[in-house]
Amino acid sequence: MLSRVLPVWVVGCLLVVVLMGCGANAEQAAPPPEDGLRRVTLDKSDAEALLRYYFGGYVPGPARDPFDAGLLVLRDGDTYLQLDSLTAWHPDAAQQLRGSTETLDWDGLKPFLQATYYDARRLPPTLDALRATVPYRDEGWFTVELHGVMTTALRQIHVDEGALRAALRGYHEAGAQLLYPEGTTIVGEHWDDTTLVEATVMQKRPDGFWDYMTYGPDGTLARTTSTAPRQLKTPTQCAGCHFGDKQFEPERSFPGEARPGPHGPRAIYVDDALRDMEVTRFFDEHRKRSDYVLGLYNTLFVAQLRADRRAGRIDATDAALLDTLGL
Ligand code: HEC
Repeated sequence: MLSRVLPVWVVGCLLVVVLMGCGANAEQAAPPPEDGLRRVTLDKSDAEALLRYYFGGYVPGPARDPFDAGLLVLRDGDTYLQLDSLTAWHPDAAQQLRGSTETLDWDGLKPFLQATYYDARRLPPTLDALRATVPYRDEGWFTVELHGVMTTALRQIHVDEGALRAALRGYHEAGAQLLYPEGTTIVGEHWDDTTLVEATVMQKRPDGFWDYMTYGPDGTLARTTSTAPRQLKTPTQCAGCHFGDKQFEPERSFPGEARPGPHGPRAIYVDDALRDMEVTRFFDEHRKRSDYVLGLYNTLFVAQLRADRRAGRIDATDAALLDTLGL
């Protein structure tokens, strides 16, 4: 026995040291995540909406609520990511999050989303592939040209007039909100003189959120925009502005003109007939941004319809639409 050779107090000390050592070790080696769960926290005011948005994109099939699908789990007021589900649905993406048990915060989540969101959503890999299903340069698409905050390039924005009419028809029923139908695609082409340099796209998911896409100069999906003044990371920086309530020029001053910004002009290039104060006030579209959409497409489209009516070239359906709106 040890106590025969060593005094009792030495044995006691040894035991304490061994026990303390074990305790310290147990603390250092973090326990495996319980049931494959990893805690997620976003230190942001709209954290819950952002989590529903981002992780809804990783639920297989049409995007839907990640809490209902069991991908996100609430426990004692904390949100956890169910890594086993993510692994079953997107093994490559899940690989990036395995191996660490630390709480996943916004800084940890950003690179994951930037690297895996496009694949998880199976978004069209090229602008040509998108155009094959969404013929946004055809007749029946409403086009607006402007210089805004996203880029110094000229933006040419295309919205399906059918989607605008649907949002307008549902305006009163939706409680004075402009909500676009599922699948609506809004394309913002960036032009440098006569060259198409990139495109940013929003496409409405079935759960009411939108996918954000950037197609680079070679026409394929890109992780960031590449035009001045800054490279916008997709989808994380896109959601930053589109989910927020900050107002931007030139939309904020419309129907007045906006002053140039630090990087150049800020202007919406429309006919004076479309600078319709009554319609602009009626929708208050940029400030309200009912559907994460920041541009003034319904305002300008309705102003166009009113100009058509004045000129006596509006059809009966659109005239009835204006009547329903009381415009
Ligand atoms: C600095 C804020 C800001 C950021 C960041 C931003 N946007 Fe926008 N976005 C706007 C504003 C303002 C408009 C309306 C005017 C315009 O088109 O420039 C807009 C318009 C759009 C539109 C047309 C539909 C709409 O809401 O009017 C699309 C598509 C779009 N953005 C996609 C993107 C994508 C993709 C990203 C990320 C790569 C992104 N945006 C990042 C502010 C931003």
